[in-house]
Amino acid sequence: MQAHGSCPGPSPAGRRGRRGTVRGKIRELAELGVTVGEVDATLPAFLAACRGEAVPYTPVWFMRQAGRSLPEYRARRGAGSILDAVRDPELAAELTLQPVHRYGVDAAVLFSDIVVPLVGFGVDVAPGTGPVVDKPFREEADLDRLRVTPLPYVQEAVRLVTAQLQVPLIGFAGGPFTLASYLVEGGPSQGYALTKTLMWSEPELWEALVGRLAAMALASLRDQVGAGVAAVQIFESWGGALSPADYRRYVLPALQAILDGLAPLGVPRIVFGVGTGELLGSFSESGAEVVGVDWRVPLDVARSRVGPGVTLQGNLDPTACLAPWPVLAEQARQVLSLAGPRAHVFNLGHGVLPSTDPDQLARLVELVHTETAN
Ligand code: CP3
Repeated sequence: MQAHGSCPGPSPAGRRGRRGTVRGKIRELAELGVTVGEVDATLPAFLAACRGEAVPYTPVWFMRQAGRSLPEYRARRGAGSILDAVRDPELAAELTLQPVHRYGVDAAVLFSDIVVPLVGFGVDVAPGTGPVVDKPFREEADLDRLRVTPLPYVQEAVRLVTAQLQVPLIGFAGGPFTLASYLVEGGPSQGYALTKTLMWSEPELWEALVGRLAAMALASLRDQVGAGVAAVQIFESWGGALSPADYRRYVLPALQAILDGLAPLGVPRIVFGVGTGELLGSFSESGAEVVGVDWRVPLDVARSRVGPGVTLQGNLDPTACLAPWPVLAEQARQVLSLAGPRAHVFNLGHGVLPSTDPDQLARLVELVHTETAN
């Protein structure tokens, strides 16, 4: 079996505790035509789950697992823009590994940011705010500031991490709508009015913009896979701002281009967004092996929206990590019972909140491993 960091093996009590439930779920899945085979001991649990194969236990990682909730992150990161930290491969590697050591999660996620490939456009990340842009995207000439640029420091960080890591490393990029929204709005936004107005009033310029962003995301992800990442996630975080029809018409072709370009590389592709319950069908149609679900859609409902053969990732409300442990544990059990024993990667429905107590996350990892062990 794949070693999973400092996490101890599941206790026999935990095994006994969930047996009936897991059996029941296996029966339910069998009725849907999903068979449960033997665990491949050479395949890390995270990659097995992404492929919908049998797992020794449900794998777990957390979006934003590296970040301000960790005292060791705050101590090491210092002040200044996150982009400076990303440009320092040794530091980026260390920050990537911190949560793996502390929590025993089943995957690491590269310490970087979705705007890193866009630095040539004039983007920074303001602490406490997020990405901010000097000169927002307004016209065709602005496309000249969006060029595929090799980022050797990102590849170097990937190499440093994978040389020291026992679990798969996840690379990532921003989704076309999410990146476009930062470039057009100039920063975080509530209603995305400027972005939608550009999309509707200048559809050709919009198509060129999301097409260019897709090409940049694809180039960055190819480089990350070339350097050693084992899976990739597209953060289409704010895609839920669009109606399903508009997402399909104005953005899905660009998302699809990223997924298509990645297909020959053979790594699992995860697509995730917040408030994207109505886009789950589009996300799975894009060809993603794994679709991320926020906490608003129960996983059994999500399963019916993505169709067979797709793994779900999520979907505990990140705010539940601030609740007393018995409440958090109950919420986590609810997620596990709706997910079933396979084709599920446990995660939060969005990133770890900075005020989260790391001990809660450590207990959560143990709970997921213990209660799903078979
Ligand atoms: O642990 C991980 O998940 C890996 C690293 C990671 C970061 N950003 C580091 C980061 C990942 C995967 C991202 C993705 C990202 N960045 C997204 C998609 C995920 C999501 O939240 O939906 C988005 C929208 C961004 C843009 C961005 N960067 C925002 C909104 C912020 C928060 C601003 C703040 O200070 O609260 C950032 C900054 C950022 N990126 C931090 C981290 C750890 C904050 C802390 C810091 O500056 O040290």
